[in-house]
This record gives sequence, C-alpha cells and structure tokens, in this order.
Amino acid sequence: MTASPSAADARRLAVASLAAGDPTGWFERLYAQARDGQAEVPWDVAAPSAHLRALDLPAGDGRRALVVGCGPGRDAEHLGTLGYAVTAFDISATAIDLARTRHPASPVEYVVADLLAPPQDWRHGFDLVLESNNVQALPVGIRARAIAAIGALVAPGGLLIVLAAATSRVDSDGSGPPWPLTRDEIGAFAADGLRAVSVTRVDAAGTSLPTRWQALFTR
Ligand SMILES: C[S@@+](CC[C@H](N)C(=O)[O-])C[C@H]1O[C@@H](n2cnc3c(N)ncnc32)[C@H](O)[C@@H]1O
Repeated sequence: MTASPSAADARRLAVASLAAGDPTGWFERLYAQARDGQAEVPWDVAAPSAHLRALDLPAGDGRRALVVGCGPGRDAEHLGTLGYAVTAFDISATAIDLARTRHPASPVEYVVADLLAPPQDWRHGFDLVLESNNVQALPVGIRARAIAAIGALVAPGGLLIVLAAATSRVDSDGSGPPWPLTRDEIGAFAADGLRAVSVTRVDAAGTSLPTRWQALFTR
C-alpha cells in the first residue's frame, strides 16, 4: 500500500529519529515542519475520535480528565464539552501552541509534558484518562514504560480509556508508525492496581486499519 503524503512525512521523520536513538523527538519536528508548511501531520483532523464519541460517556460533572498525547486538542475539547475539567498534554511544544491557538476560549489546560517523566502530582490524579493512538506511535522498546506511566495517572475509582490500532502479529513489520498493539500489550495496562473492565476489538470506522482496540480499565 502506498502511504499518504502525511504518513510518509511522519515515517520519514520517525525513521531518522529512531536511527538517532531518539524515539520521541520526531513529534516536535513533524509539528514544527507542518506549522512551517513543509509537512503534514497525519492525525491532525478536526473531528474528535469517532471511537471516543462511540463510547457515549456520561457528563463529566467537573470530574478531572487527562488527555495523553493530545496533539492539537480534538479529543480534549470533546471531553471539555462533556463537562470534564480537562488537562491535556503533549511532548511537543508546537502541538501545545497549536492547541491553545486553535481553542483560545477553551477551559482545557494545555500543558507541555513528557509521558515518560510526568509531573509527580499527576500520579493517581485523574478520574478519566484518555490514551488514544499514542502508544502505537512509540517503538516497542519504550512501550512498557509508557503503558505503566499511563496507568499510574488513573485515580482510585477512575476510568482509563485505551483506543489503539490492533494487530495479531507479535513482531512489528517495521513499516510504522503506527505500530499496532497486540492483545498482550493491551493486557499490560491491567497492572499496579488497574483491572480491565472490557477489552474489545472493533471495526476501524473511517481508517484503512483492519481493527482497533477499545479497552476500559479502572482502579
Ligand atoms: C499519533 S499522535 C496521536 C495524537 C492524538 N492522541 C490523536 O489521537 O489525535 C501521538 C501524539 O503523542 C505525542 N507524544 C509522543 N510521545 C509523547 C510523550 N512521551 N509524552 C507526551 N506526548 C507524547 C505526540 O507529540 C503526538 O501528538
């Protein structure tokens, strides 16, 4: 399959970044090149995730939500409209600038932060944590750390939503990102006090990927 121009931009930068031993540096480079009209960000679409909307979440009633790897903020804004008090973070300062510029009147707090070294006071701090499409953009070598770091953000009684591309292959074919998640990788979120509420494989509405994970965990 021929990659779209935006996917090719992402892969070109990801390959160079990984070869340099920097698995996350390419995100900032991609957003910065896109800002300067030299690349496209393949996941930068206006609409919130269809898979998130399909969950039909109840009103937030001021409960605290955290959006991991929020990019320009599409899902953070969606959770804000549902009444959550949303914090949304990304490792890319350019992505956070873009989110703030696009949503100038938003109540969402947009923060530059690294999932692999999050602020300590975020630990067990959020009633709802959304992980959508981020772990699949990380190479296998740092996924276990990322998965554990995401789980640690969920408060007692809170809910973790994991949305990701799915694969049955144990070995990556190397053509990512994205590198879809295996069932074992989804299962790894159920650790350190988190337990699975449901793990479902769903059709990938509107994408070229065969199936997706929709997984819910609570503490
Ligand atoms: C594939 S994109 C998905 C963006 C968004 N979640 C969505 O579904 O539209 C992955 C995002 O995670 C961010 N990211 C990657 N590594 C990160 C890290 N260690 N900490 C925080 N954000 C990270 C990237 O900058 C990028 O915005």
